[in-house]
Amino acid sequence: MRTLTFAMILLAGCGGETAAPTPAPAPEAKPAPAPAPAPVPEEVKVDPMVEWDALATEDEKQAFLLKMGEAVYTSSALACATCHQVNGEGVAGAFPPLKGQKDHMGDCATHAGIVINGLTGEIEVDGVKYNGVMVPQGDMLNDLEIAAVISYERNSWGNDYGYCSPKDVKAVR
Ligand code: HEC
Repeated sequence: MRTLTFAMILLAGCGGETAAPTPAPAPEAKPAPAPAPAPVPEEVKVDPMVEWDALATEDEKQAFLLKMGEAVYTSSALACATCHQVNGEGVAGAFPPLKGQKDHMGDCATHAGIVINGLTGEIEVDGVKYNGVMVPQGDMLNDLEIAAVISYERNSWGNDYGYCSPKDVKAVR
């Protein structure tokens, strides 16, 4: 009986003095983390210049220039085909043809110079006068791209004016 009373006193004491612990504030609701995006496989890009340097034969180099040149001609930022047309015939009186004339393209240095520095002032091609503005592309295209696009022009639409290398272009810069 004495033991029970003692226990009751103890319990009463405990209950009175020890405040029930205040519950810890609920952790702020965090938005569920977004699922990690699936890793995108990194595209293995070979620097075209490295590819170019690895080409051994003239045939390989010419095929490379024609392929890249066509892409630059038809789809670079200021695609040459927009003005000179896909068939290289230009638009009489507005944009001179590249097909069948070499007077204004000349050798690699002259041709590269026109693409790098642009061309303004009156010229005559096949008896038609042009006095337009060919916008300089030197900042937009690198040496290999310019070599490619002029090589493409020199060897398309029946033209047979030889190939130009990135070295030829670099020499003009
Ligand atoms: C916005 C129109 C336009 C674009 C794009 C353009 N050209 Fe021209 N290009 C001209 C005009 C106009 C001339 C003639 C300039 C003049 O009258 O002096 C010309 C002249 C030339 C010539 C001189 C020879 C000739 O007789 O045709 C060459 C070569 C040439 N462009 C190459 C290119 C190449 C390569 C590209 C693409 C990298 C290109 N052009 C993009 C308008 C353009």
